[in-house]
Amino acid sequence: MQDKTSIHGAWTSRWIFILAATGSAVGLGNIWKFPYITGENGGGAFVLVYLCCILLVGVPIMMAEVLVGRRGRQSPINAMKDVALEAGRSRYWSLVGWIGVLAGFMIFSFYSVVAGWVLYYIAGMGVGDFIAIGSDDANGVFNDLLANPQTLIIWHSIFVMMVMLVIVGGVKKGLENAVKFLMPALFVLLLVMLAYSSQTEGFAAGWDFLFHYDPSELTAESVLVALGHSFFTLSLGMGAIMAYGSYMPKKTSIGSAVIWIAIMDTLVALIAGLVIFPIVFTNGMDPGKGPGLMFVTLPVAFGQMPGGQIFGFVFFLLVGVAAWTSAISLMEPATAWLVEKFNWHRVPACIVLGLIVWGLGVAALGSFNFISDVKLAGFSIFDFLDFVTANIMLPLGGLCIAIFVGWIITRKMAANELAISSPLLFNAWYIALRFIAPVGVLVIFIFSLVEKFK
Ligand code: PFF
Ligand code: NA
Repeated sequence: MQDKTSIHGAWTSRWIFILAATGSAVGLGNIWKFPYITGENGGGAFVLVYLCCILLVGVPIMMAEVLVGRRGRQSPINAMKDVALEAGRSRYWSLVGWIGVLAGFMIFSFYSVVAGWVLYYIAGMGVGDFIAIGSDDANGVFNDLLANPQTLIIWHSIFVMMVMLVIVGGVKKGLENAVKFLMPALFVLLLVMLAYSSQTEGFAAGWDFLFHYDPSELTAESVLVALGHSFFTLSLGMGAIMAYGSYMPKKTSIGSAVIWIAIMDTLVALIAGLVIFPIVFTNGMDPGKGPGLMFVTLPVAFGQMPGGQIFGFVFFLLVGVAAWTSAISLMEPATAWLVEKFNWHRVPACIVLGLIVWGLGVAALGSFNFISDVKLAGFSIFDFLDFVTANIMLPLGGLCIAIFVGWIITRKMAANELAISSPLLFNAWYIALRFIAPVGVLVIFIFSLVEKFK
């Protein structure tokens, strides 16, 4: 069992794995969601809690996910099952993989809608729609877009097809080729944007907003949001990283690869904050604007600055690329499972899955217009999908994976797969995985439940 490879293929090198996993991690979560939830939750204190969650919960669980993937060499559903069986445990641990696939569908459906907005803005910036736009007009453009299901469906469909195009190509020809070009492009675009924002008057205010610590801003709910976001942003708790781990070369160190991925994801989120908030403050706008932050405030800013059309175009292109490489990883686990289970080629697997997520996405975008009155637990469909996946399903999935690797399989299996030479580092990881991560998740869950029903 030890040395088998996945039937789906393998990454060419350690760096390709790191790039692909970073491609999964770095996405709308970093550039769209992180700045707006930071804005809504008061800035610095939230950022600090988020960083702690990444380090103490996210990193150890990511290592566990990669470990299971590489040991099982299959889609998350089958990898969980086989690794459990190898350890003499119940085959029903595959259920964790199933919940992951469900979460993947749910995330994809709203992710693709937002990515569709991004495509619309790339086009709009490209043709100069936002030149000298005022904030009322920018609001109008965004609200008109949300109110128009046809336009939303077109862009959502295009995005789903872009993702299918890569998935069909498989691990080497599809995923690997995509990330090899897109990720370096993404880093360059991001640095261009940072160079620009660092010249704005609002840079100091933006910096201060992100890093100024005021604990009175924190509530149990914002701690839950920080925890949930640390799973979402690292693509944890649903098997995406497990699937990517199953294509990882055997000799590569899991620990150092994971550290790299977490560092890059965190850097991109912080840099995205340092791009967006200075522009927001320079133009005297409100950082707590919510999901529209990127789509309303930024076009206004871009519309007024010299060369803003080009920077705006570059910015949205960057976001689009990031969303694309993440969405691929949302679809890969289910694709791999269909191929394994029914011996299908990737083409039919991809078409079936594409149709499912397309349909769910139409429901998600409908929550801004034709089904705006449908509420689930008080949320619109779109908000429900976002809240339930990030704040409940991913932390729960991560909790199960932590328990599985920390308590269910043997220490020896975990140690063999990780192959960390320093006993100190191994023990630090093991303690974080067995105690800190599960207790952290549970405590935060309980506190936010208590607060909700108080
Ligand atoms: N990590 C992605 C982001 O930050 O945008 C979102 C995501 C991708 C979550 C893949 C989960 C996942 F499996
Ligand atoms: Na991310």
